Amino acid sequence: TSTDKEFDTVVIGGGPGGYVAAIKAAQLGLKTACIEKRGTLGGTCLNIGCIPSKALLNNSHIYHQTKHELKNRGIDVSDVKLNLAAMMKAKERAVTGLTRGIEGLFKKNKVTYVKGHGKLVGLNEIEVSGLDGNNTTLTAKNIIIATGSEPTPFKGLEVDEKQIVTSTGALSLEKVPEKMLVIGGGIIGLELGSVWHRLGADVTVVEYLESIGAGMDGETAKSFLRILQKQGLKFKLNTKVVDASKEGDKVYVNVESAKGGDKETLEADVVLVSIGRRPYTENLGLENVGIEVDERGRIKVDSQFHTNKPHIFCIGDATYGAMLAHKAEEEGIAAVEIIKVGYGHVNYEAIPSVIYTHPEVAWCGKTEETVKESKKPYRVGTFPFAANSRARTNEDSDGFVKIISDSETDQVLGVHIIGPNAGEMIGEAVLAMEYGASSEDIARTCHAHPTLSEALKEAG
Ligand code: FAD
Ligand code: NAI
Repeated sequence: TSTDKEFDTVVIGGGPGGYVAAIKAAQLGLKTACIEKRGTLGGTCLNIGCIPSKALLNNSHIYHQTKHELKNRGIDVSDVKLNLAAMMKAKERAVTGLTRGIEGLFKKNKVTYVKGHGKLVGLNEIEVSGLDGNNTTLTAKNIIIATGSEPTPFKGLEVDEKQIVTSTGALSLEKVPEKMLVIGGGIIGLELGSVWHRLGADVTVVEYLESIGAGMDGETAKSFLRILQKQGLKFKLNTKVVDASKEGDKVYVNVESAKGGDKETLEADVVLVSIGRRPYTENLGLENVGIEVDERGRIKVDSQFHTNKPHIFCIGDATYGAMLAHKAEEEGIAAVEIIKVGYGHVNYEAIPSVIYTHPEVAWCGKTEETVKESKKPYRVGTFPFAANSRARTNEDSDGFVKIISDSETDQVLGVHIIGPNAGEMIGEAVLAMEYGASSEDIARTCHAHPTLSEALKEAG
């Protein structure tokens, strides 16, 4: 019936931004549909991002540790072998379990799940080309665009997802490449470069800038680079890729110094292109309703997630800000609250970032470089894990905790951690920042002994 197609809120995209927004909207009493074209819910994050990459990071770490480190810990193992197909199956189990879980949540919360591609055809109308071949048009009082992002292509390199891959191909290689070349020393390059290095590949990362980590705190990035180099990953910084060609099983990549001059040809079995991601708005019909995008293709929104058509909202990777799942989720909740009750808020100063290598790198708030630029007087407290009893006991003590605070008020401005479990530890720092804590507050909070988190107290 026609009322089956009339909604208070229609969300386009079923990723972490979209599915969380849809569930929240339904919970607040709005009649809600979520359109997703992939065939499974969870978006980039669950299907080809956060979840499969973390499955491979975890299991490749266990494999590497078992093969190379256990002896030293008094555990003799022999004949340790990689079963890549089984490792990929474990990854798929995690993905399937979680994406199905969201379908269950949709049912429980009465979100209508519409499988197909959504396109804006009117200010309140979305045409869906169904995965079953049928077309329908939904109407909505409010629309939330949560269509996410896609890998930024490298001009001239044609991705085949076998030899020249994006993260998607790199999550599903059928065998361990002998040589892997990673273009871009950002988060994807370092995480997936680590995975294949641990599984036996000779990995070289080519990065255009002079440091890795795509804008993370400079001191932390330097230390991270040294740790990864010690593990055996190779880096060519200040280096740009000119072009590449495939010859049989090999890819030949021409690189040169970013400042010009020195040229070199690198040979690889697999080339991973990880130079960033860009908003995905293909065939979304933005032009049909006059929704504006900026010069980088991001949908323009105000501080309340309204596009230039106020009843149409945009959240997550398709608009401004860090491309992170939890940031998309926070925006999804806030946008729905704005629709339903008129207000909602995301505190962008307290959004953590985590790189899930070993050791992990995690941070929240400002880098030392941005604080310095702001000309605010500041102080830095650092504490190395080499002086933390738990890290020493675990023989896993690379890294440090660094707390940057305002030297007048002592308010915490940024926290940067490299170390085992940094991604879990950063939660405490985020909470502290959310509550406007001073570094003394952290230092005066009792921490259990012996734990890694004592390093945070000591840095405070
Ligand atoms: P997406 O997750 O991209 O979801 C958008 C969905 O919309 C997609 O499923 C797409 O099919 C659908 N869609 C698009 N257009 C339409 C349309 N017209 N009609 C219907 N459906 C449509 N972030 C983290 O926080 N932690 C991590 O550990 C992490 N790891 C990552 C690892 C990798 C390899 C990658 C690639 C990304 C990772 N990210 C991570 C980033 C994270 O995946 C994204 O920030 C997050 O998924 C963004 O959520 P979103 O809802 O905005 O968009
Ligand atoms: P990125 O922005 O993190 O890093 C890209 C890197 O490539 C930068 O260091 C950049 O200087 C470099 N680069 C750009 N052009 C280059 C060129 N032509 N030659 C050489 N180097 C070049 O992007 P990435 O790694 O592709 O990841 C995209 C996004 O996905 C991340 O920014 C992040 O938001 C998200 N993500 C998050 C994860 C997490 O939270 N753990 C994991 C993976 C991805």
